[in-house]
Amino acid sequence: MSKGPTYPTLCTEIAGLAVVELARRFGTPLFVYDADRIVQRLRDLAAFDHVRYAAKACSNLAVLDLIRRHGGLVDAVSAWEIRRALAARYSPSGDPPPMVYTADIFDAESLDLVIQQGIHVNCGSPDMIDQYGRRAPGRAITLRINPGFGHGHSRKTNTGGESSKHGIWHEQLDDCLARAARYGLAVTGLHMHIGSGTDLEHLAQVCGAMEKVALQVGGGVRYISAGGGLPIPYREGESYIDLAAYHRLWDATRKRLQAAFGHPVRLEIEPGRYVVGESGSLVTEIRAVKRQRDNLFYLVDAGFNNLARPILYGAYHPMSIAPADGSGDRPAVDVIVGGPLCESGDIFTQEEGGFVVKRPLPQATVGDLLVIHCTGAYGFVMSSNYNSKPLAPEVLVHRGVAHLVRRRQRFEELIAGEQIPDRQDE
Ligand code: LLP
Repeated sequence: MSKGPTYPTLCTEIAGLAVVELARRFGTPLFVYDADRIVQRLRDLAAFDHVRYAAKACSNLAVLDLIRRHGGLVDAVSAWEIRRALAARYSPSGDPPPMVYTADIFDAESLDLVIQQGIHVNCGSPDMIDQYGRRAPGRAITLRINPGFGHGHSRKTNTGGESSKHGIWHEQLDDCLARAARYGLAVTGLHMHIGSGTDLEHLAQVCGAMEKVALQVGGGVRYISAGGGLPIPYREGESYIDLAAYHRLWDATRKRLQAAFGHPVRLEIEPGRYVVGESGSLVTEIRAVKRQRDNLFYLVDAGFNNLARPILYGAYHPMSIAPADGSGDRPAVDVIVGGPLCESGDIFTQEEGGFVVKRPLPQATVGDLLVIHCTGAYGFVMSSNYNSKPLAPEVLVHRGVAHLVRRRQRFEELIAGEQIPDRQDE
């Protein structure tokens, strides 16, 4: 298992481009993605038959297009995520299915869309089987099974076990197979995803659960999906997951199933964070440096409207200072890093439970840039317009060239769709 990278607390470049220049050209706050890093992460996973990218982690069209051009398939979780994948020129159907709709419910729009476009469906509830079967009898489906256990980097990202709303409870498999049979739906795929940001020990347990369920479903099974959940090293000293060992476990499971069924069984993996997490950096500008008794604060122009992971999960992200004047060698100080929002939880250096912590960072002044690393996954996509802040721009750096792949939201876009009612009573 190789060690994760260290992020120096002074950083002048992202993907070979000067941070100061990126900030000057595109403004801050700004998300920057390194295309090479994404491509490398897809290559890391090449031992699996297919990498089905969980688009929810970062769904910018340019990122989807990049992943498509490097052989990645798509896992979409909503009608509009499907439409994003279509806009990035993914075909709706094929073998293997270029995109799969994975969810625990259909809303009216997603049900219509998967039926019209012939998109493969991964059903996470018995009701989905009925609703799909009534409208599209005779098609092939995948079942997402909750194996009765789960694990994630936070309780909020654990998607297995009886407290999780996700997947079909493993003991209801026979009932679900009977439902599928009632509509002539062929169960060709099986899927388990026990949580996000978990570890090898928990992921390894899924193989056994999958094998048991697949043998119960029988020879109609043509592919199995290991789900996503692969962790990435966020903190100094953390290591990469041993992908070769993980693949070996799944490959052995798949081979036993092939022997039992007498036909090939495809093996998919469905990561989001692993593919894009490390590629992203959130570039912010320090707008105030202030002291509250013993605490020194750097207040930057990005808040939890841009990056919600710290306030939601107490997530740790490495941070660096990019001095505006390019100077190096600054003494370290312990600081709290916060954003501009009118809410005390708008702090990037916090732990789960909202406990504010200090971080040693180089001394900085207003106008210096502060880079928040490892923000490619669940960064931009979880942003909001809270406090009427515009959505930040996104830049994809490809072969040394910075491409603006989303411009900063404009005020007219923010209020588009809002109306003040006509008041005849005044
Ligand atoms: N497949 C399914 C069915 C999922 O629900 C997810 C993530 C993935 C794959 C991809 O998981 P990954 O490889 O990225 O761990 N917002 C949280 C993560 C929520 C994950 C939701 N589902 C965070 O920022 O940590």
